[in-house]
Amino acid sequence: MPKIVTLPGDGIGPEVTAAAVEVLREVAPDLQFEEHAIGGMAYDAHGDPFPQRTRDALLDADAVLLGTVGGPQNSPWNSLPRPMRPESGLLALRKALGCYANLRPVRVQPGLEHLSPLKPELARGVDILIVRELLGGVYFDQDRKIDGDTAYNTMRYTTPEVERVARMAFWAAEQRKGRVTSVDKANVLEVSELWRRDVQALRDREYRSIHLNHEYVDSVAMLIVSDPSRYDVIVTENLFGDILSDLAAVIPGSLGLMPSASLGDGAGLFEPIHGSAPDIAGKGIANPAAAIMSAAMLLRHGLKRSDAANQIERAVALALRAEPTRDLGGKADTKTFTNAVLEAMGTPVG
Ligand code: NAD
Ligand code: IPM
Ligand code: MN
Repeated sequence: MPKIVTLPGDGIGPEVTAAAVEVLREVAPDLQFEEHAIGGMAYDAHGDPFPQRTRDALLDADAVLLGTVGGPQNSPWNSLPRPMRPESGLLALRKALGCYANLRPVRVQPGLEHLSPLKPELARGVDILIVRELLGGVYFDQDRKIDGDTAYNTMRYTTPEVERVARMAFWAAEQRKGRVTSVDKANVLEVSELWRRDVQALRDREYRSIHLNHEYVDSVAMLIVSDPSRYDVIVTENLFGDILSDLAAVIPGSLGLMPSASLGDGAGLFEPIHGSAPDIAGKGIANPAAAIMSAAMLLRHGLKRSDAANQIERAVALALRAEPTRDLGGKADTKTFTNAVLEAMGTPVG
């Protein structure tokens, strides 16, 4: 019986995670779920955003399903010492699991172009995979400080860190259209110069069948929404990937349609890319599609059950047509949408 650790967290996290678990129970009744604390609620309950009990539960987990962490802008959590803040709990979790590659697919399913604010001819058929480096760069470098009127962070990467995430991108591209765009700021930053050199060298040594090109992050920010079909796999460092993937959420039409899989050394971590959405938390109206599709990625990448993953993704597409949520201009609340997914899973393919 595979053990899935669930970490619902803060804000809409518990609402969307409950929906994802409901769907998982339907397609994989043998899964065993164990819920633990993370983020602000974990700090409130245990004085730590990533408590030891949660850390221990990961040891024999087959996969981890995360909701969201964090509070509103005026939350007292934002004035805690940084290591005690909800977001630090999430970063510590990613580090503990060794999840260095965050796969963030951006897809417009056939027949769902109308959910995008882009012209239908631009949104149609978009299928991008953003591979975001998740354990390095400014997020984790310890050379950081705020002191009086001066503050700094350090963006540092080493060749092994670049190579392992680039490998993941090349591997993914091999099962797709075979094209990788590496995104950097090599015209300004030394760290990008190293990134570009190492990604290119790895391609030339081991992945000759992959078509690799390099683009600057500012230009990609424009092109990804004005001509999204030019991209297959995008690989980039931690902060650039964070920003570009929220931007890319515009293409399918909502952050609520953006799942992710964080992969690396051990058990995978599966999480929607959106935050705790304090403006709608507790109202029962959050779009659970990103969490449900993250559960599908858990089945595909974490448990190697692609058939069940496909079944969920197909049902989500049908539900989005029948019962769009409010973030997509529809009326469905979380429950109505989740029920539509469950119902669609029962309908025959075709
Ligand atoms: P956010 O992603 O929470 O919300 C941005 C906007 O998108 C809001 O208007 C929100 O209502 C909407 N939205 C997001 N997800 C939605 C969904 N599933 N359905 C419908 N609407 C949705 O970003 P924010 O407001 O900048 O951050 C809020 C908190 O979340 C902060 O504390 C931040 O640090 C945290 N955060 C956590 C994660 C995570 O846990 N992985 C990711 C991003 C932000
Ligand atoms: C995300 C979030 C996190 C990140 C925060 C909450 C630490 O924005 O998962 O995209 O920046 O990685
Ligand atoms: Mn983010």
